[in-house]
Amino acid sequence: QKVTSGEIAWRAPSNIALVKYWGKKKNQIPANPSISFTLDNAATTTSVVYTKLAQSKGHFSFELVFEGKPKKDFEPKIKTFFSRVEKYLPFLRDYHFTIETSNSFPHSSGIASSASGMSALALCLMEVERELNPKMKIDFFNQKASFLARLGSGSACRSIEGPIVQWGNHDDTEGSSDLFGIKYPYKVHKVFENYQDTILLVDKGQKQVSSTVGHDLMHNHPFAGQRFEQAHKNLSELQQVFADGNLERFIAIVESEALTLHAMMMTSHPYFILMKPNTLEIINKIWAFREANKTHVCFTLDAGANVHVLYPESERDITLQFIKNELVAYCENQQYLCDKIGFGAKKM
Ligand code: PMV
Repeated sequence: QKVTSGEIAWRAPSNIALVKYWGKKKNQIPANPSISFTLDNAATTTSVVYTKLAQSKGHFSFELVFEGKPKKDFEPKIKTFFSRVEKYLPFLRDYHFTIETSNSFPHSSGIASSASGMSALALCLMEVERELNPKMKIDFFNQKASFLARLGSGSACRSIEGPIVQWGNHDDTEGSSDLFGIKYPYKVHKVFENYQDTILLVDKGQKQVSSTVGHDLMHNHPFAGQRFEQAHKNLSELQQVFADGNLERFIAIVESEALTLHAMMMTSHPYFILMKPNTLEIINKIWAFREANKTHVCFTLDAGANVHVLYPESERDITLQFIKNELVAYCENQQYLCDKIGFGAKKM
């Protein structure tokens, strides 16, 4: 190991799940497979300065700077991440790391930064590993980065590549794995090229339920078995939809997945309602607009009140007009973000 110090940076995007991951087993193994669109604009950029220690301390050491300032409250998450990945990155304890990170979207916008943040950090650590081992193959690099990102935040393993990433064992998908995300391996109809996602910021507050708590609520959930089975079925059907470009079926699967995610939270113990009245107003407006104009706008949700509005690029003008005229009024401070399907993380 000749490399004594250096600096590297990666930009990793967020992603939006179409079939949702909700529920996990030990070691961040998903209870069901999921699939997502990689996003483009919503991203985290992380740089890591690494300095070889004169003598290994026998454990990892890092400091964290967020948007220019030291950030103590993110440290526990990063500590957990480092302790989980340590055994896969033996060099970790020989270096000190200064991690600097910033998001392209406003802080506390209600947009989760764990997927983009954890994948950017995993990629930076992989980059250090590549400097020590320059012959590493790109496929191995991506797969291991996804594997490591998963240990930080499950959905982060779907943010390394794009435009569509699948994670979790699934009989109908060759090469699928519980351990890392894979680039969707089959043909995708051109209607999904440049698919648009406008994120409506309905509630920018702190999440009511952390996703860790949320996943745990699927243990002993009365509908868990059915739900996990349904995710497999939806994923298989989505493969057909990606092949033939049937947007009616796409909409039916994606909206049902979003509502099912929320239904799981409403029917767990304890139970939660994570939608806000404005979330429902927006959903009703989307349904009315789609019906009246025969378009293909639809919604999906994360584990929160914000709404992701999905639509094909060919309907961009009419949908943006609709969003501005009818939906923005339901957003906190009228805030929304225009995004689209993207191609994965980039080295800076
Ligand atoms: O990656 P986590 O543990 O924060 O879980 C994210 C779960 C959802 O965003 C609700 C669904 C998904 O598949 O991304």
